[in-house]
Amino acid sequence: MNQVSKIDFIKAEKLKEKPDPDTLQFGKNFTDYMFMMDFDGENGWVNPIIKPFESITLSPASFVFHYGQAVFEGLKAYKTIDGRSVIFRPEKHIARLNASCKRLCIPPLDSELVLEALTTLVELEKDWIPEKEGTSLYIRPFVISTEPYLGVRPSHHYKFMIILSPVGAYYSDGQLNPVKIYVEDEYVRAVKGGVGHVKTPGNYAASILAQERANEVGYEQVLWLDGKENKYIEEVGSMNIFFKINGEIYTPKLNGSILPGVTRDSVIQIVHDWGIPLHEELISIDDLYETYQKGQLEEVFGTGTAATISPVGELKWEEHVMTINHFETGEFAKKLYETMTGFHYGKIEDKFGWIKEL
Ligand code: COI
Repeated sequence: MNQVSKIDFIKAEKLKEKPDPDTLQFGKNFTDYMFMMDFDGENGWVNPIIKPFESITLSPASFVFHYGQAVFEGLKAYKTIDGRSVIFRPEKHIARLNASCKRLCIPPLDSELVLEALTTLVELEKDWIPEKEGTSLYIRPFVISTEPYLGVRPSHHYKFMIILSPVGAYYSDGQLNPVKIYVEDEYVRAVKGGVGHVKTPGNYAASILAQERANEVGYEQVLWLDGKENKYIEEVGSMNIFFKINGEIYTPKLNGSILPGVTRDSVIQIVHDWGIPLHEELISIDDLYETYQKGQLEEVFGTGTAATISPVGELKWEEHVMTINHFETGEFAKKLYETMTGFHYGKIEDKFGWIKEL
């Protein structure tokens, strides 16, 4: 532990056995330690501590259980091929965490302290970063409102925590295998002015019913349309979405209800760097279907921290089934995956300054 750190430390009595990296599932295993810090109205954010991963006790009246005032992030640490431990774009994730706090009326976190907490915790747990390509240590920072009070206003008490989970591919079919996506035409995920552009649990809770319905008919995920006209493509919920049409790349422009994905931003920068035209614009599902009918829709893929780059093999919209690239992983998605993971595992020079080395 860093001696000048303000972060307290309690040592675990016993360390856990690490899971087999060959059969790692997403989000099932947790490391030995976690970070925790409390907020109260009088003292602000206090008592930062790294301590053994354990259950916490909360009053059943805690705000978070009733009104959902909570935010979270998801980022990853990787082991590079030359054995370094690195975190991908932590500052960008911390900025988004604070943007989410602002929207949910949660007091802002000190970005430098959060960065120190992240790096100190991951450094301590670096033996938990799996080495196999396609695996990583998923980092989940989150804030919950803990004041025991029944009434809607900002809570006066919060907990900020960081937990770590060694992970493999997010989708059960494995990394880079095409997924089948159902275009949701009844329920909506978010509306402009709401909370779709920030990472708050309610967005995910509200998506589960549509996802369950899609799963029942053989689709892994749901593609959301805009909440007003049910016409413009937004995002998948677990990832942002991109289309390759006639050799050019298209993605829905951020409109206040789409999550500004860090992988989305990274992919946009890479594609610009390659000199390939990329358009951030309104994309209607009708127009997309028309490009499909004309044989111009070459590839579809999602981007996200959990999903990395995930090719889409089939899109179902109303009675139309669009089979993309013969349900095979497209060359463009593959090249992007190799480039993104090249940055993650230190195979490509970090020309964008995205890698934080521990
Ligand atoms: C992430 O990509 O980090 C997310 O939080 C998405 C979630 C569905 C796992």
